[in-house]
Amino acid sequence: MENRPQWGTRTGFILAAIGSAVGLGNIWRFPAVAYENGGGAFFIPYLFALITAGIPLLILEFTMGHKFRGSAPLTFAKMNKKTEWIGWWQLAISFVISTYYAVIVAWALSYSFFSMKQSWGKETEEFLFNDYLKLTVDAGQTGSIVPGVFIPLLIVWTIVLGILIKGIKKGIEKANRVFLPLLVILFSIIVIRAVTLPGAMTGLNAFFEPNWDRILDGSVWVAAYGQIFFSLSVGFAIMLTYASYLPKKGDITNNAFITGFANSSFELLAGIGVFSVLGFMAVQQGVEVSDVVTGGVGLAFVVFPSIINELPAFNGFFGFLFFASLFLAGITSLMSILETYIAGIQDKFKVKRATAVLLGGGLSALISILYATQGGLQFLDVVDAFINNYGVVLAGLMEVVVVGWVLNSLNDFKDYANRLSDIQLGSWWSICLRYITPWVLTFMMIKSVIKDVSDPYGGYPTDFIATYGWGVAAIVLVVGFLLSTKKWDTNSLDIHNKEVS
Ligand code: ALA
Repeated sequence: MENRPQWGTRTGFILAAIGSAVGLGNIWRFPAVAYENGGGAFFIPYLFALITAGIPLLILEFTMGHKFRGSAPLTFAKMNKKTEWIGWWQLAISFVISTYYAVIVAWALSYSFFSMKQSWGKETEEFLFNDYLKLTVDAGQTGSIVPGVFIPLLIVWTIVLGILIKGIKKGIEKANRVFLPLLVILFSIIVIRAVTLPGAMTGLNAFFEPNWDRILDGSVWVAAYGQIFFSLSVGFAIMLTYASYLPKKGDITNNAFITGFANSSFELLAGIGVFSVLGFMAVQQGVEVSDVVTGGVGLAFVVFPSIINELPAFNGFFGFLFFASLFLAGITSLMSILETYIAGIQDKFKVKRATAVLLGGGLSALISILYATQGGLQFLDVVDAFINNYGVVLAGLMEVVVVGWVLNSLNDFKDYANRLSDIQLGSWWSICLRYITPWVLTFMMIKSVIKDVSDPYGGYPTDFIATYGWGVAAIVLVVGFLLSTKKWDTNSLDIHNKEVS
């Protein structure tokens, strides 16, 4: 049998899985997506996507990782040599995500320090784009490296690679044991402060007030699935890799439910916190909440600094808590994104962990410098949008089609998970993965392609989108195929190594 590292305890695994799920996506992506897609009415598609796709896929990925005890390429190769490319494809997607995810974490680190004295001044938008990012070049141009981004980026990489080099138990598990509880404490303090601010109710009303007309809109459902995939870290090999380090008797289904619900609870908490402060800001300025809501980068790095400026007291303290939370949430997710390809490199090339960490992580760190240049934000924006829609979601769709239809393995996996788990899976699980998820995701893909072809994303020039949007999404697929052509060491796919039962 192979000598695969393992988590020290079940709690250690659960903390790591929740640490991976709770990330940048929960704190600034979810509140804006929910608001843009019908506020309270968004919860119906969101819950539907969580129950029919998110949790079933999480259970599937935990089962696959546990059963075949391998990184994504090894797991897919053990299932069938012809499907190995899906594993490499997912790894390549994670690789691309890690290159820019690290940069956003670096921004959060800088902003933790800026917040102490509110160094962003009154014009927070100008500060972000001109003073901090020095974004003065056209889309597609890099300009020079921005030291204010490059230095925190180096710090982020040093921390993450330093943790990963120590391994699963002594590195990832230990770090999550400290970072995740700390994140929950810091974030809870912010939420308590947020809901007690004047105007908080106005924000919460805007968040929870259902806009029932929107529920019939297909794109609202599409947004819900996208959010669930990114947020639960499914579709890009993460949960599969983490589960490959579970002990032989590790529970599967219960662990997946705990992870899924913990992630959604955190997401809801973030939504409540964010909308309370948005309500506060709207009331201060005498405008509607919809006038102060923006998504993504804008929400965290423009609107939040403005809100921090306006807090009645302890501005620096609460500002620091917010950006430190974003930093902690990001670090624990970044570790899991990197672990996918560190495990893949180790499995296929039989190199030591330190070599895999330095090789994979080092290359990602090198590429991430692109986003620390003056034009970095534009590259980041396009790569992020396309790698999510035509990477994560498409790879998730391929995974369910291959497992559910091509290899027809769902019943085997169900029996396997049931033998190990407290909660028994019924036929709902296979129905979700075999029918509901593939249909909804196919619909989502078609809709998304039509929209992106007819209306180029973000109004960027077409050649820029073609290279860094469609181009990057295509390259990860080609890289996936190429890497799967390399032969395995004879022992790796050995039948005795195939599964634990
Ligand atoms: N699941 C991680 C996030 O939400 C990637 O950011």
